[in-house]
Amino acid sequence: MNTSRPPKTVSASSVQNHVYKVFPNDLNAHYTVFGGLVMSLCDRVALVVSERHSGKICVTASVDSFHFVAPAKDGDTLLISAAVNRTWSSSMEIGVRVDAENSFSGESKHIVSAYFTFVALDEDNRPCEVPDIQPMSEDEIRRYNGAQVRRDARLRTRESLKSMK
Ligand SMILES: CC(C)(COP(=O)(O)OP(=O)(O)OC[C@H]1O[C@@H](n2cnc3c(N)ncnc32)[C@H](O)[C@@H]1OP(=O)(O)O)[C@@H](O)C(=O)NCCC(=O)NCCS
Repeated sequence: MNTSRPPKTVSASSVQNHVYKVFPNDLNAHYTVFGGLVMSLCDRVALVVSERHSGKICVTASVDSFHFVAPAKDGDTLLISAAVNRTWSSSMEIGVRVDAENSFSGESKHIVSAYFTFVALDEDNRPCEVPDIQPMSEDEIRRYNGAQVRRDARLRTRESLKSMK
């Protein structure tokens, strides 16, 4: 726990429904939205959330569980939402969700979910402390608890890979 700064709420830094309109140059050879574009959009939105929360320059440390659950197509409007799930010493897990909306009919479908870990850096580019997060709603508490399970798995994998060197 970081005692130096008061905890912040999830809503203080979250992004809701950032819009990106899909045009033909966003498509892959299958004429659906190129996955790398969606990954880049998610990384940018999650970065903004991490920088709002920490007040520091942040870098992406890892991305896991990036699931493309449905395709988006030409003309769709992508709606990107991101929020801090949990923080530790210098790192933060940001959950990202993308929906694809047909803005004529108003129908929308879930296309992507992912978890990003960002690390806040000080003036010397060293990891530095970030404020705690204060989950309030039932969903925020569920994500907060799930984030610890995911972090444990991430760090286990990181340690196993290190020991193979
Ligand atoms: C992320 C980075 C700053 C971590 O630096 P480091 O020297 O490994 O620092 P530490 O080992 O002290 O770890 C710092 C924090 O990052 C977390 N972390 C490091 N690697 C991680 C990974 N792969 N996944 C999740 N968390 C990670 C640690 O758990 C620690 O969290 P905590 O302070 O909240 O406990 C460093 O690896 C880096 O600069 N990476 C490149 C980042 C980058 O360029 N991103 C752009 C994408 S190309």
